[in-house]
Amino acid sequence: MTPSIVQPQPATSVPLPPAATAHTPPDLVAAGKGNPAPPAAAPKGPDWWLMMRAFLTQGKRIASFAPSSRFMARKLIDGIDWAQARSIVELGAGTGPITAEMVRLAHPKARLVVIELDPVLCGRLQARFRESPNVEVVLGDATKFGEILAARGIPKVDHVLSGLPLPSFPAAARDAILETSAKTISAGGTFRQLTVMPLIYYKLYRRYFEDVRFRFVPFNLPPGGVYVCRGYRGASPAK
Ligand SMILES: C[S@@+](CC[C@H](N)C(=O)[O-])C[C@H]1O[C@@H](n2cnc3c(N)ncnc32)[C@H](O)[C@@H]1O
Repeated sequence: MTPSIVQPQPATSVPLPPAATAHTPPDLVAAGKGNPAPPAAAPKGPDWWLMMRAFLTQGKRIASFAPSSRFMARKLIDGIDWAQARSIVELGAGTGPITAEMVRLAHPKARLVVIELDPVLCGRLQARFRESPNVEVVLGDATKFGEILAARGIPKVDHVLSGLPLPSFPAAARDAILETSAKTISAGGTFRQLTVMPLIYYKLYRRYFEDVRFRFVPFNLPPGGVYVCRGYRGASPAK
């Protein structure tokens, strides 16, 4: 498979909750046709600078001023059965620290769909994973990841890995992402979420999932952790 960067399609027939649309940046909503193209040339500068700049200009939508450490990335994917996993979707990939660890371990036949909303960060992902045949970098909104997977003929994924700042999403957008994950993850699969606020949102994820394990990651800037969630039990009752 040729690695590619794919422009999101104009709105499809599947309506999104208003709050999910509201989470999409106003300029993109106003355009009404999805996101702008990533920069033609690969963005220059180290990953930490691209993240810092994105954080300073976009704040809550980026949520972290630095890319995840290798320790964080490894903790997020720890326990995945790489011999079996054939499809994984990553939401909010940033500059690609998680993607890089997946690429290192994934089966050659696995499909890794990597979604990022920010065009500059997406440009970095495209450049970084150009030589990785099983990675498909998509410039798009993670609230629409069900449509993004469907357009690629992927009805089910083994795992959903999220670097999204989900706690700061409007509840309806968060519900949409978690509901889509629940419908999309195959039996035995997991929803995995990064955080740089250790354990603070444990109760939030417990509202959605029967089984939530937290793994602390001290060696990250700032220290953080990951939630590994199973057994979706419906949209959050407490909005
Ligand atoms: C905390 S950063 C994590 C980046 C990377 N996964 C890491 O671990 O370093 C959150 C990322 O989610 C992206 N993001 C935020 N909202 C998004 C959305 N609706 N769809 C796709 N990506 C989104 C941001 O642009 C940013 O790159």
